[in-house]
Amino acid sequence: MATAHSAIPRPAARVGIVGGGQLARMMAEAAPALGLTITVLDPTPDAPASEFAPQIIAAYDDAAALAQLASLSDVVTIDIEAVSAGSLAALEAANSRVAPSSKVLGIIQDKLVQKDFLSAAGLPGGVYRGVSTLAELRAFGLPCVLKARRHGYDGRGVKLVRTEDEAADFLAQGPCLAEQVVDIARELAVMIARADSGETALYPVVEAEFDPAANILNTIVAPAAVSAEVTARCADYALRAVTALDGVGIFGIEFFLTRGGEVVLNEISPRPHNSGHYTIEACATSQFAQHLRAVAGLPLGSAALLHPAASFNLLGEPDARGLPVYRGLDEAAATAGAAVHLYGKHRVAPYRKMGHITVTGTSRDDALDNARRLQALVRAGGSEQ
Ligand SMILES: Nc1ncnc2c1ncn2[C@@H]1O[C@H](COP(=O)(O)OP(=O)(O)OP(=O)(O)O)[C@@H](O)[C@H]1O
Ligand SMILES: [Mg+2]
Repeated sequence: MATAHSAIPRPAARVGIVGGGQLARMMAEAAPALGLTITVLDPTPDAPASEFAPQIIAAYDDAAALAQLASLSDVVTIDIEAVSAGSLAALEAANSRVAPSSKVLGIIQDKLVQKDFLSAAGLPGGVYRGVSTLAELRAFGLPCVLKARRHGYDGRGVKLVRTEDEAADFLAQGPCLAEQVVDIARELAVMIARADSGETALYPVVEAEFDPAANILNTIVAPAAVSAEVTARCADYALRAVTALDGVGIFGIEFFLTRGGEVVLNEISPRPHNSGHYTIEACATSQFAQHLRAVAGLPLGSAALLHPAASFNLLGEPDARGLPVYRGLDEAAATAGAAVHLYGKHRVAPYRKMGHITVTGTSRDDALDNARRLQALVRAGGSEQ
């Protein structure tokens, strides 16, 4: 019988992923249970995903390599936003299926275009303006948060600036988005998957804490301890954002809850997200399996939370170099409900994401207590430390 998904060859649809980092690795780990096979494209030999999937070694925007990936795949997706929207558009023009689409990537990968898009969709993204010069910045007003319009990640490409002096070097690197400083009480996030048919699956709202030293996402706690009203607002904004985008795949939506009780939509990632790693152990369907389901045209799975959970990144120590040397993994193995995910990176570097650990528990506090304890014990050092 023909179904809405009949355009995708079944069984064993082939998924090509541009990017072979930890997100592609965890997609590749989830693929066999769905009858899917994976090929990745990444410039770095032995990329994290290559342990689980064949790798084409080439630059993300290498047209011939992308065409090869598409020829080996029924659908092409991404684990990184570094590939240009134009490269994906070229695949679409050659009748390859790409999800999320080049249009979605084009909107999201430029932070100013993304803010304008959200604003046009009636979603509250805070007060902002595109700035390229000190005069434009002056007109906008200081202090503000300056963000590189393109290629920022993990807080690199984001700077709180109080004076024009502090802003000068940053502005010289390229066009920026200036945002009014939000008086943040909590940082929240939600994963949402959307299929071609418009069907969606919404995960619980989680809370994110940041490590101020590394300016990187630190601990994720699911569910967030926020009111039903705040939860409902995040859910509504997430649904409206992916619907307005006409996005296919999984999306990570980041919010700020202000001290005044407002919910501001900070940004969207068109792919599995750090704040969704907890879903592997804590939800009925992991964000990685869900993304594959959405892009391969399979029915979406349940996004229900099965257990409260807390999850943290295992980052390279501030002075770590050389081969990774892990400590404290025995403590994690001895902790009921703890799952260690190492990304198979062959070199460690300061603050590099080497893995993550999720702890599920009987309550939010139980999971968080165990995560905090392990966070103090588990270390990713280096052989040249
Ligand atoms: N307008 C703002 N006001 C106050 N703090 C902000 C603002 N924008 C960003 N921040 C802080 O900077 C962090 C990083 O910002 P943002 O998420 O936009 O950058 P990013 O590089 O895309 O980060 P990541 O890749 O880690 O998600 C936020 O999580 C928040 O802590
Ligand atoms: Mg962010």
